Amino acid sequence: MFFFALFIAALLLVGAEATAVAKNAYNCTSFVVRVPVDNVTLVVPPFPAFADQYAATAFSNEVSKQITFPGPAAPVNLTTLTTTFDISAEYCTPVAPGPKSTTLQILTHGIGFNRSYWDFYLPATPDDAQYSYINRAAGAGYSTLSWNRLGIEPSTIPDPYRELQSLVELAVLTGLTALVRAGNITEVPRPHKVIHVGHSWGSILSNALAAVAPSLSDGLVLTAYSRLVTYQNLFIADTSFHLASLNQPDRFPNKTYSTGFLTWPDKYANQFSFFLYPYFDPAVLTRAEATKYPFTAGEFLTAGALPSAAPGFQGPVLYLAAEADLIFCGSNCTGLFGPDSAAVQAFNGSKSVETYIQPNVGHGINLHKNATGAYDVVLNWTSRHGF
Ligand SMILES: *[C@@H]1O[C@H](CO)[C@@H](O)[C@H](O)[C@H]1NC(C)=O
Ligand SMILES: *[C@@H]1O[C@H](CO)[C@@H](O)[C@H](O)[C@H]1NC(C)=O
Ligand SMILES: *[C@@H]1O[C@H](CO)[C@@H](O)[C@H](O)[C@H]1NC(C)=O
Ligand SMILES: *[C@@H]1O[C@H](CO)[C@@H](O)[C@H](O)[C@H]1NC(C)=O
Ligand SMILES: *[C@@H]1O[C@H](CO)[C@@H](O)[C@H](O)[C@H]1NC(C)=O
Ligand SMILES: *[C@@H]1O[C@H](CO)[C@@H](O)[C@H](O)[C@H]1NC(C)=O
Ligand SMILES: *[C@@H]1O[C@H](CO)[C@@H](O)[C@H](O)[C@H]1NC(C)=O
Ligand SMILES: *[C@@H]1O[C@H](CO)[C@@H](O)[C@H](O)[C@H]1NC(C)=O
Ligand SMILES: *[C@@H]1O[C@H](CO)[C@@H](O)[C@H](O)[C@H]1NC(C)=O
Ligand SMILES: *[C@@H]1O[C@H](CO)[C@@H](O)[C@H](O)[C@H]1NC(C)=O
Repeated sequence: MFFFALFIAALLLVGAEATAVAKNAYNCTSFVVRVPVDNVTLVVPPFPAFADQYAATAFSNEVSKQITFPGPAAPVNLTTLTTTFDISAEYCTPVAPGPKSTTLQILTHGIGFNRSYWDFYLPATPDDAQYSYINRAAGAGYSTLSWNRLGIEPSTIPDPYRELQSLVELAVLTGLTALVRAGNITEVPRPHKVIHVGHSWGSILSNALAAVAPSLSDGLVLTAYSRLVTYQNLFIADTSFHLASLNQPDRFPNKTYSTGFLTWPDKYANQFSFFLYPYFDPAVLTRAEATKYPFTAGEFLTAGALPSAAPGFQGPVLYLAAEADLIFCGSNCTGLFGPDSAAVQAFNGSKSVETYIQPNVGHGINLHKNATGAYDVVLNWTSRHGF
């Protein structure tokens, strides 16, 4: 009875709809950039390509045993990759340039999305920018570069077992950042400062960049990420590694999306991992499910290879945690970001590590009703740190 009453109170609190947000004045350019990767370590998968859904689901059982599958007990063969990928990106900059527009925020999306995670609109309300981080950042004076990670069209879709692996994705982010900093991307003016803003898997990659190439970033904003792997089995169980080509055959034909491309079953599974009820518009959930993108067997096979301790990173760090993040906090982030937390300890050489727990949101922070509240926390931080 007590809990029921609390629940009703919460429902009444969010009864008022979030108000629409107007578009700011900024220009965007979309383009494809060729990003080379050199001699990246690959794991040869110690199992054949999944023959069917049964084999893929069995793999979800395997990875739920230990996050670094196959782990130290089962040695794997290694090889290397040297190639060049196509990366689809979008550069946005305020129409009126100012001191902040020379800071470039590199936005890396997480699993299940393309870069529209940072620029999300409902088809019925194309002028309502309440879910667009890019719009908010431009309004605050910043330039942004968002990009589709590997495997997300029209970026290259590599082999999901043998090539689309974690260290390759990291190499793409470091390669893209190096090109930007050198002023070698025609469409992107050479920035004075570069900060990396990630969501979830994109935060893991941004954290790893700070670990392997600390000089490539001037500041980090890590959203929906705690550095804890304890709770990831909840996500794995929620998806049970459904084959993308069977789940959305029209969008993911098996000719392009082999059995190594995986997803969760439906929008309620999406809700379970990404949304906190009742703090979202059901139309947003429906849209997110209709426009979702797969993850890969190779990513889960190699996730444990990404470094996260970044003692050499000196720039400031902001963690923006989702209060009810299922994947990184078991649905309660309160208490997991203190001074002794794994999150804060990863950056023991940083001049500043701030943590903030955004209330009333699940893992997919930008898709909740108070998205602009979260954006302002980030943009307040960038401003305070002189970016
Ligand atoms: C590639 O990296 C491996 C270590 O991962 C190193 O032993 C090898 O010399 C490198 N090859 C080249 C051509 O740089
Ligand atoms: C490693 O490669 C060797 C030679 O190709 C093969 O016999 C062995 O089964 C491989 N081991 C794994 C774990 O893939
Ligand atoms: C932005 O776009 C407008 C309209 O296309 C154009 O007139 C203006 O020059 C552009 N501004 C910048 C800074 O590129
Ligand atoms: C940028 O381009 C210059 C001139 O072609 C080249 O010397 C430099 O190595 C490039 N830097 C990167 C990071 O690609
Ligand atoms: C791929 O999809 C087509 C069309 O749905 C189907 O006929 C075919 O059996 C599938 N191939 C495999 C290997 O699953
Ligand atoms: C993101 O995916 C949706 C659904 O496939 C698509 O309509 C949209 O154009 C994509 N955006 C980008 C930037 O790739
Ligand atoms: C910082 O953390 C690293 C491990 O990431 C550790 O080796 C180092 O001793 C720590 N430094 C301090 C000052 O605690
Ligand atoms: C979340 O965790 C904190 C710290 O352990 C605890 O005090 C709080 O009651 C928890 N909140 C909920 C809603 O369970
Ligand atoms: C919206 O987010 C801001 C910034 O975190 C917070 O101060 C505010 O309480 C949030 N509002 C609701 C209704 O959750
Ligand atoms: C940041 O937030 C604090 C506290 O809410 C506020 O006092 C300050 O004005 C904000 N700063 C900026 C630059 O928005």
